[in-house]
Amino acid sequence: MRIGIIGAGNIGAAIAELLANNSIEATIANSRGVESLQPLVQKLGGKITAGTIEQAAAADIIFLAVNWSKIPAATAGLDFNGKIVIDTNNPIESPAFVPFDLKGQTSSEVVAGFVKGAELVKAFNHLPPHLLTSKPDANEGKRVLFFAGDNSSAKSVVNKLIDRLGFTGIDLGSLAEGGRLTQFPGGALTAQHFIRL
Ligand SMILES: NC(=O)c1ccc[n+]([C@@H]2O[C@H](COP(=O)([O-])OP(=O)(O)OC[C@H]3O[C@@H](n4cnc5c(N)ncnc54)[C@H](OP(=O)(O)O)[C@@H]3O)[C@@H](O)[C@H]2O)c1
Repeated sequence: MRIGIIGAGNIGAAIAELLANNSIEATIANSRGVESLQPLVQKLGGKITAGTIEQAAAADIIFLAVNWSKIPAATAGLDFNGKIVIDTNNPIESPAFVPFDLKGQTSSEVVAGFVKGAELVKAFNHLPPHLLTSKPDANEGKRVLFFAGDNSSAKSVVNKLIDRLGFTGIDLGSLAEGGRLTQFPGGALTAQHFIRL
């Protein structure tokens, strides 16, 4: 399956590094264009290609890793039908760090509204970037990545990817229930660093 990454900041670049370290190809995009991504893709070797947002969104699995307020612009005009979108986002951003008002929805339920037709899986959002790129086997166990979503086959694909990247996945259930647990701020499991023995 082809992988795209929209967003190349702390989290997008960490995911690109993680994929490259596991010899998995991906196309990464940001708002400033392919030229601005050259230092990153050169550092990561040949597996990660800089592309346009449209090229990243043409993949089968798309990591969305942009600032919360930029999600509408980053997804506008793209066709997400039949895709798996991995929502790494949290509804807060620097420098204010004031949570956005989600009107009672979980953040992934809000994101799902911007990627209509996609199966959304919330994952890769509850750890800081350095814990995504450091060795996932620790203390004789494996680092846990939580995921949540409403479609079991999409979750199975994401779980297999998590496994291939060397982590162990834990399914927290639906976007409404599981998504809330890892959502930052407020989720009981957010920023928690677990090792499964
Ligand atoms: N940092 C963390 O510790 C952490 C942990 C877990 C989850 N998260 C979540 O992950 C998401 C990304 O956070 P981050 O720390 O990686 O942010 P960041 O370092 O500020 O990077 C944001 C990225 O989004 C891109 N972007 C902005 N507008 C875009 C657009 N219209 N189209 C395409 N790309 C666009 C930016 O590209 P340009 O620079 O070219 O504009 C940049 O590459 C956020 O939702 C955050 O809440 C962050």
